[in-house]
Amino acid sequence: MSPALTLTVNPAFRVAPVRRRTFGAFVEHLGRCVYTGIHEPDHPSADEDGFRTDVLELTRELGVSSVRYPGGNFVSGYKWEDGVGPLEQRPARHDLAWHSTEPNTVGLDEFMAWAKKAEVEPMYAVNLGTRGVEEALDVLQYANAPQGIELSDQRAANGSPQSHGIRMWCLGNEMDGPWQTGHKTAEEYARVATEAARAMRQEDPDLELIACGSSNSQMPTFGAWENTVLTEAYDFVDMISAHAYYSEKDGDQASFLASADDMDYFIDSVVATADHVRAKLKRDKRIMVSFDEWNIWYQHRAESRPPSGDDWPVAPVLLEDVYSAMDAVVFGNLLISLLRHSDRVASASLAQLVNVIAPIMTEPGGRVWKQTTFHPFSLTSRHAKGEVLDVRLQSPTFENQRFGTSTSGDAVATWDEETGDLTVFVVNRDASGPLDLGVDLTAFAGLELVEALTLHHEDPYVANTADAPDTVTPQKNDTIALADGRLTGELPAISWSIIRLSRTGA
Ligand code: AHR
Repeated sequence: MSPALTLTVNPAFRVAPVRRRTFGAFVEHLGRCVYTGIHEPDHPSADEDGFRTDVLELTRELGVSSVRYPGGNFVSGYKWEDGVGPLEQRPARHDLAWHSTEPNTVGLDEFMAWAKKAEVEPMYAVNLGTRGVEEALDVLQYANAPQGIELSDQRAANGSPQSHGIRMWCLGNEMDGPWQTGHKTAEEYARVATEAARAMRQEDPDLELIACGSSNSQMPTFGAWENTVLTEAYDFVDMISAHAYYSEKDGDQASFLASADDMDYFIDSVVATADHVRAKLKRDKRIMVSFDEWNIWYQHRAESRPPSGDDWPVAPVLLEDVYSAMDAVVFGNLLISLLRHSDRVASASLAQLVNVIAPIMTEPGGRVWKQTTFHPFSLTSRHAKGEVLDVRLQSPTFENQRFGTSTSGDAVATWDEETGDLTVFVVNRDASGPLDLGVDLTAFAGLELVEALTLHHEDPYVANTADAPDTVTPQKNDTIALADGRLTGELPAISWSIIRLSRTGA
């Protein structure tokens, strides 16, 4: 007998409706994300605009809802004007963030054309590193204003007569980070973000504006930063951002497997700080969280370091992390954490979409394939419907250096009352062995099991490659069965599962 993981799922344990924006991603001018990622005019699959249709197809299959653009660290030195207008007049420039040359072949209008084809909502970040209020207003007017003023007429002349209608705007990127071009103290950032937001709202009061929060929960200014920024910007913004990347460090597998504990702590702390400011200012409105960068990222690996010296390459190989089966399990657990916080996480962006710490990989001129992380994302995006339900969990625990004691299992569920679809997302994040799963579903009448899939590999470090793209894919879990309102089965060590049920006859 394996240790038992017991879950109780009940339609009364409602958190919030599933938000489509939880399934956002991110396209930055970084490495090969844009050039030879989404855009490669010479590729056999390229369409009339130079976009790789093989990548577009996988983006749609991934179930991406929104895409943040154009950065990232890149945006803090970016001049948006460089990327619009006739191609032959666009300047090449040094990108200081990634020590690369930006050719500006793709800019705002091209991105919007791509977003339309990919069927995703755009989220645009303005540069508050080297630039300020005026440029934020300019790019907003260029993107969104109806024709009749200089900048919108310029957009029309460049081939986009209709407003791009971008609703979500990030006020800079990771301005708390000393690595950021134009890095600021919390007070300095609070000032410029508030003024940019005030001006942008004068242009269009209905925008959804996102202030920069902390770059991770370990930042020395974490907590104090959010407090200072929101105290000044509260009335002008809708969301505050959170960013987090996780990896196995120094062979500490157990702490890595428990990474979602940090995401839970991070979100809970940002929400507590935002609500503290709300109380202090005596406001009704609640600030939501935009978790607009999250993923697994092995930052200590060589390919994560930008080139240096005299060489300023165009679209170098950068941050092309290869994800293992274990990475996909931790990744699936991060999605569980995001869903569980749907009451306060209004938007999230997987960083990034293609080639750069990405679920989709490409060869220049060649193949496209799915990394292991593609699978939990696409399955969660496709099947998380209706209401998010908190799951009551009785679980064995395991010890780890970073968090002390963590539960071996973690889970969340979604329930679509209309269609009768109930989906349980569950991980066994304990390396020591399988868990005997028992799920009490007696609160739901007349369910049948539709499908149970488990992502697991005997070797947790094995990955998908261009030559063997299906090495790690979710497989049917034949141990899962439903009888008398109770699900039972086995979850292998280090595994992520999706269990789909539906009302009988639905
Ligand atoms: O996603 C890669 C980088 O990580 C982004 O450019 C930056 O915002 C973060 O530090």
